[in-house]
Amino acid sequence: MNDDEARTPGISRKTLLRAALIVPAAPLLLAGVPALASTPSGQPLTVTPESCDDDDLTPPQMEGPYFKPGSPLRTTMVDGAGTRLTVTGYVVGLACQPVTGALLDFWQADNAGAYDNVGNRFRGHQFTDAQGRFTLSTIVPGLYPGRTRHIHVKVQAPGRPVLTTQLYFPNEPRNNTDSLFDPDLLMNVQQVGSARQATFDFVLNVPGTPPSPSPTGTASPSPTPPGGGTWQPYQPYALGAQVTYGGMAYVCQIAHTSLPGWEPPNTPALWRRL
Ligand SMILES: [Fe+2]
Repeated sequence: MNDDEARTPGISRKTLLRAALIVPAAPLLLAGVPALASTPSGQPLTVTPESCDDDDLTPPQMEGPYFKPGSPLRTTMVDGAGTRLTVTGYVVGLACQPVTGALLDFWQADNAGAYDNVGNRFRGHQFTDAQGRFTLSTIVPGLYPGRTRHIHVKVQAPGRPVLTTQLYFPNEPRNNTDSLFDPDLLMNVQQVGSARQATFDFVLNVPGTPPSPSPTGTASPSPTPPGGGTWQPYQPYALGAQVTYGGMAYVCQIAHTSLPGWEPPNTPALWRRL
């Protein structure tokens, strides 16, 4: 089931990608928002466009039984007890170029190792910013039988296939016994006071092309047409919104703002054909 077990040991994807990151002299501030991803020493990072290749692609993993569509748009999914955890990083392409507007849909167990299969506790999706960055505020997921500690995620660049994978924590005893565990999916985790800060960068199979437009775009979005309409880019679509595209009807699975390349046939995570 896990062909990553046969991977040749050596320099990990994360090592290679980290080598491609430059630490600027001054803290990175973009549009008034503090830089999110950081080195183990806490310094912010900038992605260079040169040192990623297809050996560095983030490996896929099984979805498991607990994914469900329709997670809320949010970067914070702290709910209840648990050790606070912040995960930050980049989504980049094969040229290490930042992927703007990439969809990340996270789901995980709560502090007790249980998934919410009715509501949306510890489920949330978000989009990378113009620098390809994301941040997730959550808790350290609890353990449940048969698995080591992990966070599930689906990552999708505009117009590209969905990458389904899992993120792991270092120094977990069960990493040695969980057949799904892949060291290439280890986060870099630091203890900061009573909380933990983790980083992870996703490398997607996206050729090096100019970044996509920001989801906030320059066009003025208008509300989703009630009762449907033709799909258009730069539109905020709510969960359950219906559109037509290419003569087919689709229903929105995850609330989002559309982008060129995110046409419904290209984004099965976002749109389900009716
Ligand atoms: Fe799981």
